[in-house]
Amino acid sequence: SKKPDGRPSKQRLLVVANRLPVAATRKDEDSWTLEISAGGLVSALLGVNEFETRWIGWAGVNVPDEVGQKSLTEALAEKRCIPVFLDEEVVHQYYNGYCNNILWPLFHYLGLPQEDRLATTRTFQSQFAAYKKANQMFADVVNKHYKEGDVVWCHDYHLMFLPKCLKEYNINMKVGWFLHTPFPSSEIHRTLPSRTELLRSVLAADLVGFHTYDYARHFVSACTRILGLEGTPEGVEDQGKLTRVAAFPIGIDSNRFIRALELPEVKDHIRELKERFAGRKVMLGVDRLDMIKGIPQKILAFEKFLEENPVWRDKVVLLQIAVPTRTDVPEYQRLTCQVHEIVGRINGRFGTLTAVPIHHLDRSLDFTALCALYAVTDVALVTSLRDGMNLVSYEFVACQDEKKGVLILSEFAGAAQSLGAGAILVNPWNITEVAASIGYALTMSACEREKRHRHNFMHVTTHTSQEWAETFVSELNDTVVEAQLRTRQ
Ligand code: G6P
Repeated sequence: SKKPDGRPSKQRLLVVANRLPVAATRKDEDSWTLEISAGGLVSALLGVNEFETRWIGWAGVNVPDEVGQKSLTEALAEKRCIPVFLDEEVVHQYYNGYCNNILWPLFHYLGLPQEDRLATTRTFQSQFAAYKKANQMFADVVNKHYKEGDVVWCHDYHLMFLPKCLKEYNINMKVGWFLHTPFPSSEIHRTLPSRTELLRSVLAADLVGFHTYDYARHFVSACTRILGLEGTPEGVEDQGKLTRVAAFPIGIDSNRFIRALELPEVKDHIRELKERFAGRKVMLGVDRLDMIKGIPQKILAFEKFLEENPVWRDKVVLLQIAVPTRTDVPEYQRLTCQVHEIVGRINGRFGTLTAVPIHHLDRSLDFTALCALYAVTDVALVTSLRDGMNLVSYEFVACQDEKKGVLILSEFAGAAQSLGAGAILVNPWNITEVAASIGYALTMSACEREKRHRHNFMHVTTHTSQEWAETFVSELNDTVVEAQLRTRQ
């Protein structure tokens, strides 16, 4: 297609994710405050210039009235965002229920709800029905805005039903789906009552992507073992239709972090932090307060380290930033209480009148404060029990070119496959091992730190989020959709 001035117009990329990259808060009846969230996906796509990007997703607010829906749609249009309006009941059943109480824990190997998390057959069925309904609502919005030639990129476990809905509308639509979490072993996936429907729906996409080769392999074996389909080196084949399956490890916009360290504001923060913690080594954890992040296990390992190494007690501090998330889900509420209880106990045990060993914050930090914190850290602790990739580890490395601090990294984070040679890899369930690694990290020679940092810094600065997005979208563009295949035959 051509623009009126004769120049070819850019191909449009419709990015569909549960959450829009903009959070909306209502000021009054028809005006809104919009706050852009600089998550991984947003910065990844900012760097992709050959497409004209549109975002389709939930704005994170309940807008029951028409006036509100109209004014929010207009406000979001300026940010190239298109809202999907989900009512409270759908959010409760689809987002809190099926997505965050069933799929999220399952994909992170925490299993299906049991005991007090027990989902009865009725709730299972009604939550899955709400999940499909919500996915259909996303599909309706995509379909309304789709123009021939657009590429549609669906994201994450919230939208596994979307590829099928989209292809039912239009078999020619080019559809990609990317999973940001792990895809578990087929032995885990097969416990899910709706296992077949979800796999079949994802297979309707033209290209299916994961962070690591292992996740892609697990997905293919779920399709071969559960659906009885054929796995090929290219992907999964069903009656002559091939769905391409491949690994596309995400990265960060490393320059954004490196540049931030030069800002006067960040330098001031760094100076303040250095003064505040003078004479002590700084250890850092930055996580959403989620059970997959292994925060209690990490803090218990720090306690064990202090217990076994009395000389370190007034020479090290752990700063744990725990960003509240999914606070309506009871599991997350329980985790908050559990973490507070452990932190309180340890600070009571090892604190003095003037200092405590753990500073625990239940909130997020702004970008400049976060960069400063990364830069002054001696040892970062990323000890997720499972994690799709974990970009905190990448952000830390990007901010450490001066200090060359140590990264302790869970072997169950996707990042272990890329930063494994530079980090100290640990099994986060083994508290003795993590405690010993803390000791090793704190006393590591400058020469070894330099060597390890070099490896990680090279990786983080060369495997960026922009490159990730470009690779996925260009591969998606290169796939031949089913309908085209048929006409060629
Ligand atoms: C993970 C998921 C994302 C999600 C994010 C924040 O990284 O893969 O899809 O957006 O967590 O969680 P939330 O439930 O607040 O969107």
